[in-house]
Amino acid sequence: TGAVTFDPGFMNTAATTSAITYIDGDAGILRYRGYPIDQLAENSSFLEVSYLLIYGNLPTPSELENFDRRIRRHTLLHEELKGFFGGFPRDAHPMPVLSSAVSALSTFYQDSLDPFDDEQVELSTIRLMAKMPVIAAYAHKKSIGQALLYPDNSMNLVENFMRLSFGLPAEPYEMDPTMVKALDLLLILHADHEQNCSTSTVRLVGSSNANMFASVSAGINALFGPLHGGANEAVLNMLRQIQSSDMQPEDFMEKVKNKEAGVRLMGFGHRVYKNYDPRARIVKATAHEILSKLGGNDELLDIAMRLEEKALADDYFIERKLYPNVDFYTGLIYKAMGFPEKMFTVLFAIGRLPGWIAQWREMMKDPQTKIGRPRQLYTGEGERQYPMR
Ligand code: CMC
Repeated sequence: TGAVTFDPGFMNTAATTSAITYIDGDAGILRYRGYPIDQLAENSSFLEVSYLLIYGNLPTPSELENFDRRIRRHTLLHEELKGFFGGFPRDAHPMPVLSSAVSALSTFYQDSLDPFDDEQVELSTIRLMAKMPVIAAYAHKKSIGQALLYPDNSMNLVENFMRLSFGLPAEPYEMDPTMVKALDLLLILHADHEQNCSTSTVRLVGSSNANMFASVSAGINALFGPLHGGANEAVLNMLRQIQSSDMQPEDFMEKVKNKEAGVRLMGFGHRVYKNYDPRARIVKATAHEILSKLGGNDELLDIAMRLEEKALADDYFIERKLYPNVDFYTGLIYKAMGFPEKMFTVLFAIGRLPGWIAQWREMMKDPQTKIGRPRQLYTGEGERQYPMR
C-alpha cells in the first residue's frame, strides 16, 4: 500500500537483512561472516568456508571432521536418478542438466523437504553439498560419452569431484594436488556474494516456502545467464573469437565501445564493485601461477592481459568504473585443468552452493521474512469495453 518506488534491477533496494556476507563495492572489500576473502583464500579450504557460511562460525577441528564425514556418506545418487543423465541429448549444456537433476532431488529425497523442520533442513543441506558435485561430474561425463564412476568416499568433496570428472573405470586416477588446490581456491572465491541474481532467486523462490532443492535449482538457472555465472564461459568464447579472427584486441575494444550489436567486454564490470573486484585480483595471480605449472594456453592469457591493460587505460571503462570481475581469468584456469567451456558455469555453481544454502536457511529462520512480491508501475491500456458482437 502507499506509493510504489520504481527501482528496475533493484539498484538500491534492500530486500532483506543478512549476516552472512559483507561487500563494500567502493573499497573493494569482501568478507564472509567477517573474515576477509584474501585471508580465507590463503588459509582456509572450501569445506571449511562452506561450514562458516552455513553455520556462522569457523568449525573446530572435530566439527569440520564431522561435517566432512557426513558429506562423504551422502555422495551416492539414487540409481534411478542416474537414469536422468541418459535422457538428455548428448550435446546438452550441463547447466540445465544440473538444475534438472537438482530439482529432481525433491522427488527422490522426500524425507527432507520441510523448510521448518531443523533435522530435515540439515539433511537436505548435507545431501546437496554431497550430491551436487557428483551430479555436475556426471553431466560432464555424459556429454563426452564416458562411464559414470561411483564416488570414492575415501576422498574429500573436491578430490572426489576431480576423480568423477576425469577418472576412468579401467585405470587408477592420479590426483594432481596443484589442480585440487587451485579448484578449492576458486570454489572459495565463488562461495557467496550476498544478494546477487541467483541468490536473490533462491530467496524469492524459497520465500514461498518452497523446499531447498527447488529453490537451489532455480538459482542454478539464474546463474546460467551470460551476464551472471555464464560470463566465465562467455569470456573464453570471446578470447577464442579474437584469437581465431585476424582481429587485434584493440579492434575488439572498439566494437565494445561502439556498442556494436550489444558486444560487451565479458568478465568486466560489476553492479557493486566500482573500484576493483578483490576476487579478480586473487584469480589473476593464480592464473599466472597455474598456467605456468599446468601449461595452459599462453596466447589466450596474453589476449586477456592485453584487453585488461587497454581497458584500464581507456576513458570508456574509466568513466563507467568497469574493472575485471571474478570471471575474467577463471575460465583460463578451468581450461588448463581440462574442463570444457560448457563446464565453467557448473564449477561456479558448485562454488556458490554453500552461499545459496546459507542464505536460504537464514531466510527461513528470519521472523521478518515475507513472501517476495515486487510491485510494478502499470503502463498498459486503461479500461476498455469488450466489443459486443
Ligand atoms: N563491457 C562494456 N560496457 C559495459 C560493460 C562491459 N562488460 N559492463 C557495463 N558496461 C557499460 C554499459 O553499457 C553502461 O554504459 P552506458 O552508461 O553508456 O549505457 C554502463 O557500463 C553501466 O552498465 P550497466 O549494464 O547499467 O551496469 P549493471 O550494474 O546493470 O551491470 C553487469 C553489471 C555485470 C551485468 C555488467 O557490467 C556486464 O554485463 N558485464 C559483462 C558480464 C559479466 O562479466 N558478468 C559477470 C559479473 S561478476 C560475476 C557474476 O555475477 O556472475
